[in-house]
Amino acid sequence: MEQTLSIIKPDAVAKGVIGKILDRFESNGLRIAAMKKVQLSRQDAEAFYAVHKARPFFNDLVDFMVSGPVVISVLEGENAVLKNRDLMGATNPKEAAAGTIRADFAENIDANAVHGSDSLENAAIEIAFFFSGREIS
Ligand code: CMP
Repeated sequence: MEQTLSIIKPDAVAKGVIGKILDRFESNGLRIAAMKKVQLSRQDAEAFYAVHKARPFFNDLVDFMVSGPVVISVLEGENAVLKNRDLMGATNPKEAAAGTIRADFAENIDANAVHGSDSLENAAIEIAFFFSGREIS
């Protein structure tokens, strides 16, 4: 069993597709072990995406992530990290395979509907960033 972190980003929350995206997870063997709806502060977003600090898109990414509430969850299941990434599709929705979350719900590479941890190691770091142990069950 693995755990991974998912964020439903402000574009998808504003569009009213939280339920549709959560259904993709649950229908594909990913259990929701923790979940909350949060308005991130700029400090939260900068710290969460610190690994991208030097990238040219960093400021736009932070602006976008604080533009409205997000839904953050811990997904649990077999091969959860890879399974979630398969369900999400490519980072750029224009390259995302048909039937993936980003192909169906995302607009562009900034407003791309969801974030998912890219490795088991980063999943543990990202989960600990947003959740305490007692919030995960
Ligand atoms: P996410 O999985 O949340 O991780 C970092 C985010 O930066 C990514 O999704 C995209 O929304 C955003 N981003 C914008 N431009 C790029 C880019 N050129 N390469 C990767 N990520 C980008």
